[in-house]
Parts: sequence; C-alpha cells; structure tokens
Amino acid sequence: MTASLRIGFVGAGGIARAMQIPTFQKNDKVQVVAIADVVQQAVDAAVVDFGIPHGYTDYREMFTKEELNAVVVCTPNKFHAPISIAALDQGLHVLCEKPMALNATEAAAMTRAARASGKILMIAYRYRQQAVARAAKTIIASGELGEIYMIRVNGLRRRGIPSWGVFTNKEMQGGGALVDYGVHLLDLALWLAGNPRPLEVSGITSRRLGTRPNVNPWGQWDYENFQVEDHAAAFIRFAGGTAMQLEVSWALNIADSSESISFSGTEGGLDVFPLKVYNAKHGMLGNWEPIWFPGKDQKDWDLQAADFVDAVIKGHEPTVKPEEAQRVSQIVDAIYASSECGAAVNIDQS
Ligand SMILES: NC(=O)c1ccc[n+]([C@@H]2O[C@H](COP(=O)([O-])OP(=O)(O)OC[C@H]3O[C@@H](n4cnc5c(N)ncnc54)[C@H](O)[C@@H]3O)[C@@H](O)[C@H]2O)c1
Repeated sequence: MTASLRIGFVGAGGIARAMQIPTFQKNDKVQVVAIADVVQQAVDAAVVDFGIPHGYTDYREMFTKEELNAVVVCTPNKFHAPISIAALDQGLHVLCEKPMALNATEAAAMTRAARASGKILMIAYRYRQQAVARAAKTIIASGELGEIYMIRVNGLRRRGIPSWGVFTNKEMQGGGALVDYGVHLLDLALWLAGNPRPLEVSGITSRRLGTRPNVNPWGQWDYENFQVEDHAAAFIRFAGGTAMQLEVSWALNIADSSESISFSGTEGGLDVFPLKVYNAKHGMLGNWEPIWFPGKDQKDWDLQAADFVDAVIKGHEPTVKPEEAQRVSQIVDAIYASSECGAAVNIDQS
C-alpha cells in the first residue's frame, strides 16, 4: 500500500533510535518525514542514520513547515505535555511516550487538548499491546474469573538502573522506577481489570541503593546525584471493594528480577506472565494454560505503531485512551504524596 501518513518525531534519543523510528519506518502506511531535537548533533545523526529527509532543532518550526499528520513524542517526561499539547493545537495526532506527563495535572491538560482538538492522543503504554496481554484481556472480559477483588503487580529488577539520559533527574522525569518502569505494569493491570476507580492509596518509596556506587549491568549511573526512587510499594483501594498491591524496583536486594501481574476473582485466578488460569471446577482444583493464542509471535512495538496508525486512518479510538493514562498518573501522584506524608491519601475524582 502507498504510504499515506506523514509523521514527524520529537526527540532523537535512546528510545526513538532504538525502537520508535525503525518501527514506524517498517510500517507501510507511514512516511517518517522529519525529526526535531534540541541537540543539533542528535538531529544530524538521526537524519543520516535513518535517512529522514528533514531535521529541526525547534519542534514548532517542524510543525509549521512540514505538512505532518501526526507526531511521535520521545523526549524526557518534562516535555511530554507542552509538546503534545502544541501538536494537538496544530491539528496533529500524537503518540506520546510513557509516562503521559510529569504529573496528573499536566496529564489532564493533555486529555483536554486532545478532546478539544478531536485528534488522537495515544500514550505508549506498549505492555497492553503484547499478545499475552490481549489474550488475558479476552479471558478476563469473558467474566470467567467472576468478580475480581485482588490484583498483584510486581515489576522488580535486582539491578537495572538506567545509566543514560536523564532517568535519575527528578525535574526532567518526575520520578524513578515507578514512572519509568512501574507505570507499564500498572497501566496494563488497570486495563485488564476494566479500569476500576481508585479511591485511596497508601504508598512508600525508597532511595537507598541508587545513591551508592553499585553493581549494575546497565552501566554506572550518576549515583552522587540520584534524585529519584529506586523502589516503590503501594496498596490501592478501588471502588467496589477491589484492592491492588504494587511493588516496583530498579534496584532491590532480591534473588532474581521478575515481572508479574495476577488477578484473583470469585470464580478463578489468572497470571499474565506466563498466561495461566486457575479455578475450582467439577469438585477439583485445576490450572489451564494456552499453547497458542493470536499474535503470539508479534512484537508489542509493531502492534503499538499499527494501533496508532489505524486509529488515525480509520478515525477510531486507539487502545490506550488519554483518560486511562491520566488515571495511571493520578495513582502515581498519590503514591508519591502518600510516601511524602506517611499516611494513606484519597484520590480526588473531581
Ligand atoms: N516505551 C518504553 O518502553 C520506553 C523505554 C525507554 C524510554 N521511554 C520513554 O521515552 C522518553 C525518552 O527516553 P529516552 O531513553 O529516549 O531518553 P534520551 O534522553 O535518550 O532521549 C531524549 C531526547 O529528547 C531530546 N529533547 C529534550 N528536550 C527536547 C525538546 N524540548 N524538544 C526536542 N527534543 C528534546 C534530547 O536532546 C534527547 O535527544 C521518556 O519519556 C521515556 O520514559 C519509553
């Protein structure tokens, strides 16, 4: 099929180069026509390495000069809101990297801009795109687990502190392990659970290992200026009597790194990684695991780009809606607020 969408990138750093640019360039409904980054060298490198026709050091100039349909925002978190809002105000569709913004207030402004413009704003919560996540969604949506009342979410790295970019800078990112890594799993768990309404959060964060020189397979980060959390834990109460227990780390003294999301309902339980269902039937306790499901070998990055492009071309909602991503930011804000004040905090639903 002939390329139809003209896409520009904002941010030419790690994730743009490693994943987003090559992924969009593979999509036959897209032309990556321009890229903007505040660092001239990053622009030049992206233009040469990926054969992108035009480069800019000011994204506003790119928005004005290029006849874009959509932009992909791959900057540090601090710039997600202003750049996405500027793009939406110019009538461009936006795929913005996660987390949605520095905080829920900025996220709400992004949602308002998207709804006012009528353009698509999708947040790159790519864990939802994994085939295993879609399969879990199908099972849960069938009602097979009954009423879900307990959700457990773990994203634990023994040592995996990003040593590049600005990941340990509070002003640029808004937080550490929770906003960088935990949000992927939190978003997926909320989506699978049918977006329950959070009421109250008790959270605690820690900055104990990131502040020391330490063994890290991803290189040495700036431990003398480590401003964010390396571990976060929370208990979240939802409307309807559902609870979530969440734990996330970049660095933690545990045996092995692991990722898990599990649900317990009145009729059964489900683990997402790997996908398994547990139930009590016919007077027996049993486990069930699929040996094949649709899309098993497809990559989440490819599915994410296709989801966005499809939503833009066909004019339907993408898988990750701004209101849902905003709720992730609300919970994250509440975890930080609770940790700060040392008590549970209510989530403002206004
Ligand atoms: N989806 C995922 O799994 C995943 C993985 C890694 C990073 N990310 C997200 O991607 C984003 C970028 O991360 P990264 O690892 O690429 O960071 P990075 O620091 O490697 O790259 C960011 C780039 O943005 C540029 N930039 C900064 N301010 C800008 C502005 N105002 N206008 C234009 N360009 C600007 C920087 O010069 C840099 O080249 C972050 O939000 C991060 O959370 C997502």
